[in-house]
Amino acid sequence: MPSERSGPGRIPRGSRRLAPEHPEPEGAGSSPRVSQTRRFPINALAWLNGEFCPIHEAKVSIEDRGFQFGDGIYEVIRVYDGRPFLLERHLERLCRSVAAIGLEVNVEELGLARVIDEGVQRSGMAEAVVYIQITRGAAPRIHDIPRGLPPTVVVTFRPAPVVPAELRERGVSVMTTREIRWANCYIKAITLLPNILVRTEARRRGYYEAVFVTDQGEVRETTAANIFAVRQGRLRMPPRTQAVLHGITQSLVLDCAARVDVPVEERAFHLDFLRAADEAFISSTTLEVLGVTRIDDQPVGDGTVGPITRRLHEELVRHARRGPCRSACAV
Ligand SMILES: Cc1ncc(COP(=O)(O)O)c(C=O)c1O
Repeated sequence: MPSERSGPGRIPRGSRRLAPEHPEPEGAGSSPRVSQTRRFPINALAWLNGEFCPIHEAKVSIEDRGFQFGDGIYEVIRVYDGRPFLLERHLERLCRSVAAIGLEVNVEELGLARVIDEGVQRSGMAEAVVYIQITRGAAPRIHDIPRGLPPTVVVTFRPAPVVPAELRERGVSVMTTREIRWANCYIKAITLLPNILVRTEARRRGYYEAVFVTDQGEVRETTAANIFAVRQGRLRMPPRTQAVLHGITQSLVLDCAARVDVPVEERAFHLDFLRAADEAFISSTTLEVLGVTRIDDQPVGDGTVGPITRRLHEELVRHARRGPCRSACAV
């Protein structure tokens, strides 16, 4: 298990979510009400792929890659007195984000400036926030990015949150924390954008998978599987820290290895070690145990699936077909 259990996101029992002296900005996500100016009735509104509708009626598919993988980008624009503020800068950043993840969308053709103007008019909100969200669109769930998928484009118009005057006057407190963004790979989270970008590149370059290796050369795992090396009859796997997903299949591989008397060492190793392995394989719920016979442009061992890999796969399948039924589980 991860060594640190009390990181951000974990709220210790008895602690307060928000100090009472720090009221949250009002307005975001609240039910319809009247704007500060009281000139405009508030109607939260959405524009989804070309159509305006009330926000609660806008629906996207559960197959949407935004929902499945966090495969998308967004932008937020403040509307003051009915005018979107710094719109050009926001749209420029949006274009940079679109380009950075290779979204197949022509932002100019979307006519977002016109959509925003019309949405602000329709919503009647003088003080609003406009969210633009563009995802890769809906498709059957696979990591590698399908080509030619129509993106999902959503623009929402909501009342602008109001920072209470008291907060403005007194200022706020902040806590410091470790920079953990994208560092907690042990969480099986749906924010898989780095994984799908890398997987897609691997497939486009003719590889089945890609192995994440740190700047220091440490081998971690692949985009959707754990990795093992076999050297001199011994199995080696990266340690189950916060930096990798603790695979259920990985744990079964350990059980299988014990049953067939293959010793295992759970200790970090470098790419050189993996390259020099006699065998290598990856493991996951859907792939089971799958031999890796080539890394970059070099064969692993003699370039064929090795005997220990085969033995462990057989053992895994035997266990899956005849193993304990679900009701025998502790959970
Ligand atoms: C990044 C990553 N590592 C490892 C695994 C393997 O985990 P499991 O054996 O539980 O399927 C997965 C599975 O999706 C994964 O996404």
